[in-house]
Amino acid sequence: MPCSSGSTDVTVYLNGEYCPLEEAKVPVLDRGFLFGDGVYEVIPAYGGRLFRCDHHLERLERSLREIRIPNPHTREEWCAIFSRLIEAGEGEDQSVYLQVTRGVAKRDHAFPDHVVPTVFAMANPIVTLGREVLDRGIDAVTRPDIRWARCDIKAVTLLANVLMRQEAKEEGAMEAILVRGGLATEGAASNLFIVRDGTIITPPKGPRLLPGITRDLVLEIAGSHGLSYREADIPETELRLADEVWMTSSTKEVVPVTRLDGQPVGDGRPGPVWQRMYALYQDYKAALRTGDIGD
Ligand code: PDD
Repeated sequence: MPCSSGSTDVTVYLNGEYCPLEEAKVPVLDRGFLFGDGVYEVIPAYGGRLFRCDHHLERLERSLREIRIPNPHTREEWCAIFSRLIEAGEGEDQSVYLQVTRGVAKRDHAFPDHVVPTVFAMANPIVTLGREVLDRGIDAVTRPDIRWARCDIKAVTLLANVLMRQEAKEEGAMEAILVRGGLATEGAASNLFIVRDGTIITPPKGPRLLPGITRDLVLEIAGSHGLSYREADIPETELRLADEVWMTSSTKEVVPVTRLDGQPVGDGRPGPVWQRMYALYQDYKAALRTGDIGD
């Protein structure tokens, strides 16, 4: 039994049951624990409304398909789980973390014959970056991308990301920008944008980066507000010459990078195109909160 029953303190979901976090237990033979054999999603909810839930569930379906785990829930079932967690959770703005692993089986690399996926989900308050951090911008460092060749799958296997983010932290930076084959691809836990001569540029989707939901929304907003943008490779040399550098993710939104490897980006302050995009992004969130737009 994954959760002990009888508690009213509903916090997390595990394999069909809701229980307090400390009561949720997964067997040590779970393949997520042994092999990192699973995928995950992080979905923000603003004022109780899920942010681009369909897009996140589409990406989850794709990740599951790519690693050949059957999707354990319909979209309606997923939404019901998320809603219940958000209702029980704390804070106006929360993020739902969900993880599906291949399940519990005797340790062997190849897939077990009969195995039931493990499903875990929880909601946590979103801690956004403070206004003073956004006004100043963040530091980032470049790192060789030491990850595998399928970064488009949102796999729980995040050891390389963990190491690169830790290295960034030890250098006093908030994010690592990853470079593979001379191209800057994305962050350790975020997507990458630059601005050059007024045009917003982000690398095209492909196996080298995660197809970020925030990334797509930023491009959508740019398109609908007449901002110039294109999807194109970003050579490391261009990254260093950029007028602006931004990182995006569901939990951090759109963050300006103002120092790269200790050097100022542009004039060392968050740029005008970022200011515009940030404001438009906040408008989108406000409209989502009030129900003026769907998820
Ligand atoms: N990470 N690239 C990587 C490697 C990521 O881990 C993430 C997000 C993104 C941005 O994707 P999205 O906009 O859909 O959040 C890009 C999440 C937030 C995490 O691991 O916590």
